[in-house]
Amino acid sequence: MNALGDRFAPEFVWGVATSSYQIEGATTEDGRGPSIWDVFAARPGRTHRGHDGAVAVDHYHRWRQDVALIDQLGLDAYRFSIAWPRIQPEGAGAVEPRGLAFYDRLVDGLLEVGIEPWPTLFHWDLPQALEDAGGWPRRETAERFADYAEIVVDALGDRVRHWTTLNEPWCAAFLGYGSGVHAPGRTEPAAALAASHHLHLAHGLALERIRARRPDVEVGVTLNLYAVSPADDTGRHDDAVRRIDGLMNRWFLDPILLGRYPQDVLDDVAGVGGTDVIGDEDLTVIGAPVDFLGVNYYTRHVVAAGPWPGSAEVEFVSRDWPKTASGWDIDPEGLGEVLARVRRDYPPVPIYITENGAAFDDVLGVDGRVRDDDRIDFLRRHLTVLADAIEDGVDVRGYFAWSLLDNFEWAEGYRKRFGIVYVDFETLERTPKDSAHWFGALARQTAKERR
Ligand code: FCB
Repeated sequence: MNALGDRFAPEFVWGVATSSYQIEGATTEDGRGPSIWDVFAARPGRTHRGHDGAVAVDHYHRWRQDVALIDQLGLDAYRFSIAWPRIQPEGAGAVEPRGLAFYDRLVDGLLEVGIEPWPTLFHWDLPQALEDAGGWPRRETAERFADYAEIVVDALGDRVRHWTTLNEPWCAAFLGYGSGVHAPGRTEPAAALAASHHLHLAHGLALERIRARRPDVEVGVTLNLYAVSPADDTGRHDDAVRRIDGLMNRWFLDPILLGRYPQDVLDDVAGVGGTDVIGDEDLTVIGAPVDFLGVNYYTRHVVAAGPWPGSAEVEFVSRDWPKTASGWDIDPEGLGEVLARVRRDYPPVPIYITENGAAFDDVLGVDGRVRDDDRIDFLRRHLTVLADAIEDGVDVRGYFAWSLLDNFEWAEGYRKRFGIVYVDFETLERTPKDSAHWFGALARQTAKERR
């Protein structure tokens, strides 16, 4: 069907991704405690039209159907996240067996049909009790995360081979505690920096504990990386590029892959506060080798120096460029740049693209089809760049499309559809879009020997 498929090795992992709060619903069932997203969404004006994840797409009850969908598409792996407040409703101490049992069933259900489970331990739904105690700006939250990781790995580690500690600590720290557009909605720059360090520490402590319990599994972390380029070639904006690349990419890549924070960023944020929580010993824990790096790629940032010469101000420049329904520039070349830089600047590490995808204004036709050619084009172009990168020698071993299902897109509520499967948010009926069929065919072509 598609020469693109021939460019990926038979062992390349094809998957789809979701996250707990975005799809599960059932937020008060089986002993689940409140998460920061339940509390945040209930506050006026925080999410589009006050949308929340109380029902989401009801995956908690419909997971068998969702597993069947992944199976029908012929994919190899399913990246989902585990809701910490289902496992420890108070974020510490007592374990809720019904919460663990849900993921236990899900893992078995996936394995029964030959789909590899790829759980992420933290995709933003922090137990509210831990936020009440101070949240990620507080060091103890990292320690609680390691306890929680151990509980989950003890329960599922006999069947789950790949574990991801965190999803996008940049968002959890800087959107959650800096700009406040995500839960818990705090706007405290020093707290945001402290949160980012404690997220790193949480990753490192969990990695240590998981390795101690199950030396046979692979552990990684997922970062959202961006291509960053200047508004023009005059050189005037190079420092803006350095700053934004520093805060969005290197602040996360460096501690995890090099065991240190970038000195220029430390200098940039010296006046902000929050970095006094960084201990030297922490960096040894944080920088312990990972088995893989998860990369989420969506877009590029084009930046310019602010109007005041010599000031630290940076402007994000909007280009006249094709965009997704999220307003993000469609920039597949940026994925190639991100991968090339990880290879150039860091020690060798296997990479999985753990998210890539796009929101478009999909319409379910009267004939029951969703003709999302724009999404197919988006996926095809990014996968073409990915194939180029692999042929150039970047060690990328898998690709997870974001997302399996249309879902609760955080502050955007249900108005942004990222799924390759359409969901009618009234009836919760699922309809694979044309992109799902296209993506499944591509995966099956590549993986024909296996499934
Ligand atoms: C990423 C998140 C994911 C989803 C996509 C669109 O930042 O990890 O949950 O919201 O963006």
